[in-house]
Amino acid sequence: PIQAKIGPSILNADLANLAAESQKLLDNGADYLHLDVMDGAFVPNLTFGHPMVKCLRNHIKEAFFETHMMVQNPEQWIAPMADAGVNLYTFHVEPVKDVCNVTRKIQEAGMKVGLAIKPGTEVKEIEKYIDVADLVLVMTVEPGFGGQSFMADMMPKVEWLRNNYPNLDIEVDGGVGPKTIDCCAKAGANWIVSGTAVVGSADQRQVISELRNVVKS
Ligand code: DX5
Ligand code: ZN
Repeated sequence: PIQAKIGPSILNADLANLAAESQKLLDNGADYLHLDVMDGAFVPNLTFGHPMVKCLRNHIKEAFFETHMMVQNPEQWIAPMADAGVNLYTFHVEPVKDVCNVTRKIQEAGMKVGLAIKPGTEVKEIEKYIDVADLVLVMTVEPGFGGQSFMADMMPKVEWLRNNYPNLDIEVDGGVGPKTIDCCAKAGANWIVSGTAVVGSADQRQVISELRNVVKS
């Protein structure tokens, strides 16, 4: 049976204080950490790469790390991210010619595989790879920045995936918080990324448990 997982995005946290910010989120009930890696090419923004993830891993030994790879060449970062202690390597399929090859290399490196699609990409484009993936990420904003508005018109993608793959882990990311979680849960998403709604809250524990309860019910 699918499980509800809440993974805060640390993009809008104090990145100069990332270990403490991450530990606080975990102490407040986060199931995993969603680490947004941007290369300034696939998206018009820059964040951080494997050196920082590796440093974070030294501070946080146990937590499950997902890297959301918003990069032009995801194949390039597989080995260093595996070495940095990443558990789930989620990459955008849009710039990738050979999705099977990248998927296989991620698995050979010992990580789980997530396939991410931008709002303009249809699920049909990844359908043939879903059986070999561990998770599908349906973006609910254009990737690049935290704090944008949730795109409810992405929910048919989630519904289609849930109807066709009852056991698939389906993740949503972008503008997800207490106001938009009902819609995501109803459509069938079970891995929930939430950035500003959690990180910016005065009561992170409350927001995380509220999100989880909606998805569970
Ligand atoms: C957007 C990132 C998201 C985003 C989430 O490119 O992939 O993870 O930062 O933040 P909120 O929840 O604020 O949209
Ligand atoms: Zn993300």
